[in-house]
Amino acid sequence: MQRLGVTSETVHYDVVVGRGAWRALREFARSGYTSVFLLTERGLWNHWQEPFLRSSGLKTAQRVFVPSGEASKSLRMVEQVAGELLAQGADRRSLLVAFGGGVIGDLGGFVASTYMRGIDCVQVPTTVVAQVDSSIGGKTAVNVGAMKNLIGTFYPPRLVAADPVVLTTLDERAFRSGFFEVVKHAVLSGPRLFDEVECALDSLRPERAASLGPLLAHAASVKVDVVSRDEKEAGLRRVLNLGHTFGHALEEATGYRRFLHGEAVGWGLLGAVRLAELLGLMSPASSQKVVALIRRVGPLPSIGDLKAGRVLKLLPRDKKAVGGRIHWVLPERIGKVRIVADVPPAAVGAAFRDIQRADRHE
Ligand SMILES: NC(=O)c1ccc[n+]([C@@H]2O[C@H](COP(=O)([O-])OP(=O)(O)OC[C@H]3O[C@@H](n4cnc5c(N)ncnc54)[C@H](O)[C@@H]3O)[C@@H](O)[C@H]2O)c1
Ligand SMILES: [Zn+2]
Repeated sequence: MQRLGVTSETVHYDVVVGRGAWRALREFARSGYTSVFLLTERGLWNHWQEPFLRSSGLKTAQRVFVPSGEASKSLRMVEQVAGELLAQGADRRSLLVAFGGGVIGDLGGFVASTYMRGIDCVQVPTTVVAQVDSSIGGKTAVNVGAMKNLIGTFYPPRLVAADPVVLTTLDERAFRSGFFEVVKHAVLSGPRLFDEVECALDSLRPERAASLGPLLAHAASVKVDVVSRDEKEAGLRRVLNLGHTFGHALEEATGYRRFLHGEAVGWGLLGAVRLAELLGLMSPASSQKVVALIRRVGPLPSIGDLKAGRVLKLLPRDKKAVGGRIHWVLPERIGKVRIVADVPPAAVGAAFRDIQRADRHE
């Protein structure tokens, strides 16, 4: 078990990753909260409540359930959860524990940041994405209509406790999809994490997830480092968007139905690598290594049938910049990326068509 610290000018909190991490919640059970509330999903909770309550010591916590799925990240659900907290007696000195994936984490963080102008929040992430990424950094949000994460806050949790044992109940596809984000962290971080991921891929199965603590801790430390240095996305934090430019466009072009988020990021990484190669930023040797690793993580739903023009129109632009420039995070080698704002659209189109062509010929 590893204890990492997010430390910025304004906050400090621990991110505990590994077997036994839930025990770190014991100090919270004793630290003077008037009450503790667990926000979670019923199916997930039914499976994990017994070991979680035993390790965390939160036996008297009250529960609030929301349905699983992205649709729960809504203002309507914020209102519903707040109403339920109030009905169950939550006050300003209550603690909210968000037990779930990124959806529960984002919703729980948002509710905690606004309920009675803010109550303490602890994140207990239960998916790969949540353990290495979304639970860390204090970004919370809900969606409005089709606009993802339109309303949100920066609200750091008091603690993040990630035990990989919980990943054993993920289905194979959801489990693997989170590892495309781990590959993203490896490309940002360098050869050490990259090699660790390569080794882990031989036996990457949900039922063996409990042994992944050291790898997940290393992957989480990449996010911990970045957000410690750039809490509110002034600049450095943008590197975390690696793979997400094409990724978001692909999710939107398919109505968020074809890809799990991590899978869209998998394609996004392949696109970013190809674009970096076309621009002469990345050597073919480095790019082949990254491509091979992504391919080994697992199969990706096809992109061969998508209209390239439509996907390219959906690339997320910087709304603050004149003409809506796109900030590309492009790898130069494993462990080094560069942010480029003036990539010629023709090169972007060529990179996307190249990964589509490679997909069709598989
Ligand atoms: N705040 C941030 O910085 C940040 C970063 C990245 C992503 N996000 C957000 O995170 C969300 C995606 O997160 P996610 O991929 O964890 O999705 P999710 O929370 O929807 O979880 C995916 C699915 O797995 C199920 N599940 C969760 N834990 C499980 C377990 N241990 N066993 C079995 N099933 C389990 C859930 O019920 C759900 O159906 C998106 O809304 C995204 O916007 C936020
Ligand atoms: Zn992501």
